Amino acid sequence: MTFSSRQELVNALEGVDYLVDEGLATALFLAQSIRQPLLLEGEPGVGKTTAAKAMASVLGGPLIRLQCYEGVSANEALYEWNYSQQLLAIQLAGQADDGSSKPWLAADDLFTEDYLLDRPLLKAVRHPGPAPAVLLIDEIDRSDDEFEALLFEFLGEQSVTVPEIGTFSAVVDPVVILTSNRSRELHDALKRRCLYHWIEFPSLERTAEIVRRNVDAAAHPLVTAATAFVSDARALDLDKPPGVAEAIDWVGALSALGVTNLDDSEARSTLSAVIKTPDDIRTANEAMDAGELSVSVS
Ligand SMILES: Nc1ncnc2c1ncn2[C@@H]1O[C@H](COP(=O)(O)OP(=O)(O)OP(=O)(O)O)[C@@H](O)[C@H]1O
Ligand SMILES: [Mg+2]
Repeated sequence: MTFSSRQELVNALEGVDYLVDEGLATALFLAQSIRQPLLLEGEPGVGKTTAAKAMASVLGGPLIRLQCYEGVSANEALYEWNYSQQLLAIQLAGQADDGSSKPWLAADDLFTEDYLLDRPLLKAVRHPGPAPAVLLIDEIDRSDDEFEALLFEFLGEQSVTVPEIGTFSAVVDPVVILTSNRSRELHDALKRRCLYHWIEFPSLERTAEIVRRNVDAAAHPLVTAATAFVSDARALDLDKPPGVAEAIDWVGALSALGVTNLDDSEARSTLSAVIKTPDDIRTANEAMDAGELSVSVS
């Protein structure tokens, strides 16, 4: 299904426990209605990857994921030739030769769709529908410049060219979501082909609601105190400020420990579930010693 208004999409996303503000709702709505690729940037743990998963779930199509890393190649993104099948075909053609007439296998016979292995971009283009596929190109900033350039045709025209066969154009235009943590600046040419949205860290209330939906068993006062503490910890000078994911993990851990009311001593003893480097833990403990960071009792 597709959505004819932003509010419909917001409601559907809420139904799969993905909560959006107006800016993100607008960006996701446009990505599905005009089918322009959407580049989502934001700090770790603000829900970039989950946005694509939630979109696939509400649209009812498959999620096709390309995880980027340094050195990711065209073979992994576009298509590969099935070399073992090609080799087998050559051998079989050889065996069929009984001496009377030599069967002949031209290169053209080996570079056809029969021997083509779809990788995520081609898979997204060839997805038959009716529901659109959601193509997640995750952490594009980890790939290198050349790889980014390789995406231009696909991002601009929703098509993939296989020189030996021709150009495959999308059967049903996929909803394309790229994510980046801004570990490096992306190419202008890539940005030009995409809609853009920066996901802000959600408000305190929204964070609490997200945590509540992810950790069913958690007591309300615990969720409120833990999310407020995480939000205060984000104001410290930390190398890795805790995100929504850490808040969820922490509340999950505290719940498992049977904690229903958070206090400073419980927070200190479980700090490593929410703050993940020794330097940051030291900074947080010092802030607690100095009274700059504490569990607020509501
Ligand atoms: N708006 C939201 N609604 C519901 N859950 C959310 C939301 N934002 C984040 N989450 C939850 O927070 C966790 C982290 O989200 P996710 O992995 O999508 O973040 P990310 O931005 O992709 O992080 P990274 O940059 O580290 O890959 C997930 O468990 C997700 O369910
Ligand atoms: Mg992610």
